[in-house]
Amino acid sequence: MEKKEIRLAYEEYASDRELTASDAGLLETARKATGDAYAPYSRFHVGAAARLANGEVITGSNQENASFPAGICAERTLLSAAASRFPGVPIETIAISYVNGQGPSDRPISPCGICRQSLQEMEQRTGRPIRLVLGGMEGRVMILPQAGQLLPLAFTADELG
Ligand code: THU
Repeated sequence: MEKKEIRLAYEEYASDRELTASDAGLLETARKATGDAYAPYSRFHVGAAARLANGEVITGSNQENASFPAGICAERTLLSAAASRFPGVPIETIAISYVNGQGPSDRPISPCGICRQSLQEMEQRTGRPIRLVLGGMEGRVMILPQAGQLLPLAFTADELG
């Protein structure tokens, strides 16, 4: 028997004022993208913004549906938009922010399980890690170097043979 351990290393910043101009700008774009969300059922408005390797910045937001499972998260909206508009172009960084029914958010959220699966496969497709910049409308910010790290021991396309 061998004991093994998986570690997750990330950076935490007290506020967006400590970020590089590039990351702060992307987080601000994600915050603005919360305004595009269609979330009449959860009232949880999520915005995501991606900086691509070709310099393009695109956004996504959650889009809900009266048939609840048909709704899609901001992160997967964004991944689909990136792959459709700029096929094959790696994503360097994704910033994610949100507002909930109670008003301004003051701490980060991280992607749900299904989105972690999709982020992991996008990294695999493009062969490049996707950095995540996670923050509310204010407050502390987390930066993860590689989205796939959020899904240790992932089921991947490799297993399908
Ligand atoms: N949601 C996202 O868009 N991203 C996340 O990381 C968490 C959850 C959406 C899905 C749903 O529309 C609402 O937020 C509440 O779960």
